[in-house]
Amino acid sequence: MTRSDAELLNLQFHRQAVPPVWSSGEGVWLINEDGERYLDASGGPMVVNIGHGRSEVADTAHKQISTLSYAMPGYAIESRLELTERIQKLTPNGMDRVWYGSGGSEAVEGALKFAIQTQQVSGRPDKFKILGRQNAYHGSTLFTLSAGDMPERRAPYLKLLPDVVQDIQPVADCNCYHCPLGLEFPSCELACADDLETRILAEGPETVAAFIAEPIVAAAAGVVAPPTPEYFTKIREICDKYDIIFIADEVVTGFGRTGLPFASQHWDVLPDIIVFAKGVASGYAPLSGFIAQDALVDRFDETGQRFNTLFTYSEHPVSCAIGAKVQEIMDEENLIQRSAQMGDYLGRKLEALSEISIVGELRGQGTLRGIEIVANQETGDPFPADINVAVDIQKHLYKRNILHYLGYWRDDLGQGAQLILAPPFVIEESEIDLLVETLGEVLDERGAAYRKM
Ligand SMILES: Cc1ncc(COP(=O)(O)O)c(C=O)c1O
Repeated sequence: MTRSDAELLNLQFHRQAVPPVWSSGEGVWLINEDGERYLDASGGPMVVNIGHGRSEVADTAHKQISTLSYAMPGYAIESRLELTERIQKLTPNGMDRVWYGSGGSEAVEGALKFAIQTQQVSGRPDKFKILGRQNAYHGSTLFTLSAGDMPERRAPYLKLLPDVVQDIQPVADCNCYHCPLGLEFPSCELACADDLETRILAEGPETVAAFIAEPIVAAAAGVVAPPTPEYFTKIREICDKYDIIFIADEVVTGFGRTGLPFASQHWDVLPDIIVFAKGVASGYAPLSGFIAQDALVDRFDETGQRFNTLFTYSEHPVSCAIGAKVQEIMDEENLIQRSAQMGDYLGRKLEALSEISIVGELRGQGTLRGIEIVANQETGDPFPADINVAVDIQKHLYKRNILHYLGYWRDDLGQGAQLILAPPFVIEESEIDLLVETLGEVLDERGAAYRKM
């Protein structure tokens, strides 16, 4: 059945509901109802790690639904136990306690609430504020929007965010390409990390419960990592100094995306809480959660208190069975290692694009890659906002059967453009070659077109 564009747009309460109708997925490919194949170079919004269309995951879902489709969160059931054991094998030492939700926002929200309650059970009831960084995204619920810094997404709901949230200034983000402090590394001596201490002192350390940050900022900045591991060492020290819980939002980076189980492991710094979602079930089911240091959960046990957050669909048996199966596949096929290897290959291939006049910077680790698009390679100046280069490039790549994701960093004038690649880890070298070659041709061609505008 072929539906008209107008029908499709009316069907979905969503501005991006544009044709075509996707009918199947296979490896790194999405296939539409006309049988055309599109390379899904970002696995949707950086979700699909094991590739599309794995029938063994479908078999697992079928088996779980046929045997036990639902059981209260908290009941011990096989799929929950197995998933938890698999996650525990990947987590850093001392981080074995897992709480489950369905999506990333729910998991971040859970982690923020857990941090506040942990402060309470630790005898620090006045600590309730959450600090986050500029240009950060942690989810779409009111609480997660307030911890992040995406003005456009927050704006309609500002009146609902309590004054205390509205008045908290975000911590400077760590983005050397667009340094918020106008400094340069290394002479800056990581002033952006010191800004955390400045913000804590401004709020009153006795009121700050937690600090949240992505180890590598994905969509909100277009894949931006700190210039040195010392950034997070400093962050950890500052959090420790003021009894502040450090939450690593690994919704995108968790489960192998950057070539290690968790991106925090690149920095050798142990967060108090790691939030995960997307890749844990590779998009086959809504599944998320957070992993807490054992010592934090012990404080609840010691005081006989419970974490007061529960959703009906937390730890859903089918999602857990699917998550466990996905992690089994990841393990048996060495897919975290493959993310590192294919990510290196992708990174080396992408280097050729630095010759193209509109490519400002190539960034990333493992299979998470960002490309900064600029008007001037020397100065890094962006194109004027009205050209909307990010969307223009997206349309032209789409016409060449390539799907990718966008970064959201913008300057005060709304200017800026980043492309994000995050292919399934099963991508082949020949598919990377095709991706980079097409990308190069489109960027060259669009660069020439912008110069004439
Ligand atoms: C870093 C980060 N945190 C949280 C979220 C929210 O996840 P979800 O969209 O599953 O609610 C996202 C979503 O893209 C994200 O990128």
